Amino acid sequence: MTLDRVTLDRVTPDHGDDGSSPVGPRLKVDIITIFPDYLAPLEMSLLGKARARGLVDVQVHDLRAWTSDVHRTVDDQPYGGGPGMVMRPEPWWAALTTVTGRARPDQAGSPERPRVIVPTPSGRPFTQSLAAELAAAPWLVFCCGRYEGIDSRVVEAWADDEVSIGDYVLSGGEVATLVMLEAVTRLVPGVVGNAESVVDDSFSHGLLEGPVYTRPVTWEGQDVPAILRSGDHGAIARWRRDEALRRTAHRRPDLLAGLTLSDADRQAIDSPARDAADRTSEPSTGSP
Ligand code: ADE
Repeated sequence: MTLDRVTLDRVTPDHGDDGSSPVGPRLKVDIITIFPDYLAPLEMSLLGKARARGLVDVQVHDLRAWTSDVHRTVDDQPYGGGPGMVMRPEPWWAALTTVTGRARPDQAGSPERPRVIVPTPSGRPFTQSLAAELAAAPWLVFCCGRYEGIDSRVVEAWADDEVSIGDYVLSGGEVATLVMLEAVTRLVPGVVGNAESVVDDSFSHGLLEGPVYTRPVTWEGQDVPAILRSGDHGAIARWRRDEALRRTAHRRPDLLAGLTLSDADRQAIDSPARDAADRTSEPSTGSP
């Protein structure tokens, strides 16, 4: 499947029992790439379902549709020399004018302007708070560069954000776009069935999420902590926070620096890590 322009559904919103999408998608996403097939995972899982329900509208565009030479060339040698190739400005400019519906990036008077994102290792870090910000936008355009990147004049003119998903170099922006979209779309209201699970995610309170358990109560000689089976919701909430604090202090102490901690929080961090003595081997009550 390689089409000049691959459309992964513009879905007519349904009016399901869950009340989803009565007036159109909550989030519109356009992705421009030379490898449309790379974005196939967008059909799957939660995001695939969100698209089928009309909550999120995703379209993938093949950049080569905006080339005019017989070889459909998208790259050229870098000015100043050096290894690798740079993506030519012409196809990107043409693609962005078509996809955004704007003759120029600064065109005034057009009611809706997408937020244009260029994934790049030299961008600002992608974080949960940026994911939340992007989830609140009505329309995102992702420009997936390859080679040494996109000619900077295109990026300067069109990009609202250059974003990195981590301090390592991928071969292109496609996987970074998938990563960002997975984080963003699960924050779009209605995409995740249980809204609370989004609220409890790692990073949502500035902490890593602590350990989680399900049945059976004993597995390979290890028991589920008794407190989680106690039914005491206050004690369970405190235990979860303590575990999250300890885990964050151990694995990501940098995250704690930005938080206001209570005395109880500090005590949790200073207390020794939970060990086998914290667990009991009471018989299972049958409920997780
Ligand atoms: N493209 C290549 N590497 C990347 C990274 N780390 N983040 C975002 N886009 C990229």
